[in-house]
Amino acid sequence: MGDAGNERKQRGAWFTPEHLVDAVVTAVIDEMFVGARHQRALSILDPACGDGRFLTAAVDAVRAAGGDATAVGVDIDAETVRMAPSAPGVEIVCADALTSTWLAEQAGTFDLVIGNPPFLSQMASSTTRGGASTRGGGPYADAAVEFLALAADMVDPDGGRVAFVLPQSILSARDAGAVRDRIDRRADMIWSTWTGERDFDAEVVTCALAFEFSCAGAERVSPTGSRWSHVVTGRTGVPPMPTVFDTSDPARGRLGDRARLNANFRDEYYGMIPAVGDHETGPPLITSGLIDPGRCWWGERSVRFAKRRFIAPRIDLAALDPRMSAWADKRLVPKVLIANQTPIVEAVCDPSGDWLPGVPVVAAYPLAEAAAATDAVVTESAWEIATVLVAPSVSVWAWHQRGGTGLSSNAIRLGPTMLAELPWPTGRLDGAVAALRAGDVVESGRLVDRAYGLDESECAEVFAWWSPIFERIAARAN
Ligand SMILES: C[S@@+](CC[C@H](N)C(=O)[O-])C[C@H]1O[C@@H](n2cnc3c(N)ncnc32)[C@H](O)[C@@H]1O
Repeated sequence: MGDAGNERKQRGAWFTPEHLVDAVVTAVIDEMFVGARHQRALSILDPACGDGRFLTAAVDAVRAAGGDATAVGVDIDAETVRMAPSAPGVEIVCADALTSTWLAEQAGTFDLVIGNPPFLSQMASSTTRGGASTRGGGPYADAAVEFLALAADMVDPDGGRVAFVLPQSILSARDAGAVRDRIDRRADMIWSTWTGERDFDAEVVTCALAFEFSCAGAERVSPTGSRWSHVVTGRTGVPPMPTVFDTSDPARGRLGDRARLNANFRDEYYGMIPAVGDHETGPPLITSGLIDPGRCWWGERSVRFAKRRFIAPRIDLAALDPRMSAWADKRLVPKVLIANQTPIVEAVCDPSGDWLPGVPVVAAYPLAEAAAATDAVVTESAWEIATVLVAPSVSVWAWHQRGGTGLSSNAIRLGPTMLAELPWPTGRLDGAVAALRAGDVVESGRLVDRAYGLDESECAEVFAWWSPIFERIAARAN
């Protein structure tokens, strides 16, 4: 990428195609909205306006709906502002929208805040975001989260609308949770669109969302638990979250009470590389691609690791440095290994602690509840954890937690922190564990769904979604 490309990337300057501008504008500007606010010209803001394409389209749409509008665009880049074509009723200002006091003084006055704010990962310290969240986003929140929070401050709290193109991660990323929550308390999502494709040259999959703010029912509790993953799940056929998962019953406990969950870090990946080979002895290395629901294909399916292909990769413990030896020791215990980017949860039990997890496999190590816990108790606990994880209802739960954060639109990104929050079933699991031990993932899943307390129709709906995906995985394996 040349200097100009790098500079654009730093500003998150990917411009919106006309069809998406039209879709967003049409979704929020209709005769009812214009009519309800027609005593004066509508005021419209785009806080990251680029060449002002959203503003011109919005002003035109208001006029077509019989109203009038004035529009203000803000952009941090002087050159972009200078090149923006002038349009009647549209003023473009060069400023940093996130810190501008001039803009802050107009909080709560805009009828409509619209646009496609920059998507800059907080991790990228050289971006205009500069690394800090000032508006409630968590430490890794995308800059788009800050712009959404800004929009919520700038819009008229009584009937104003916000419509933004956003990275799809905003739907369920943990670090956007506080901002989702703030908006859910004051607004309804009135429209959304998501295709799962990279619709334009932004580097991530996007969605577009529109909200209407209302003072009525202020401080209401968010109906969705501040998750917007329904924008994705509603379009990919994932069933609604079974009600038992939404009721917080402290007696139920969570997976994190029974297991320590972690994933390897980059250093561990590099530490493993010199020790990996198709050796005669040593613990098998289990990568995500070897893990299917309830089944590990080590030795039967070849794998790629560190740009090399292996038939049956093992780790030569003698080739590990002292730090990596300690790493391996801690992991050669009964555990459950969970693949990372998959369409349903794919987990497998390692009851004798023979395997080492690759990157980015997540591992769950049963906690020995008492110092005197026997190996048999720990092994049984590992089986229970694997059994619960591969149940259909747990995949539905996972989609509702993290739908939209995977690398592709049909995969969920499973991480240790999120999995630790998995509610634990209250019913008995022995039948389900026996079924999984016997290799019957379907029967085990049915029994776990019952142990969770899903009713008949929820069980049927969840199974009807999960089963064809599981069958596809099983067919691929064979
Ligand atoms: C994704 S582009 C979108 C531009 C335009 N809204 C569109 O849809 O085509 C993001 C724009 O945000 C601008 N930008 C980045 N950081 C900004 C900031 N802190 N304040 C205002 N504008 C900013 C960039 O210069 C870029 O023009």
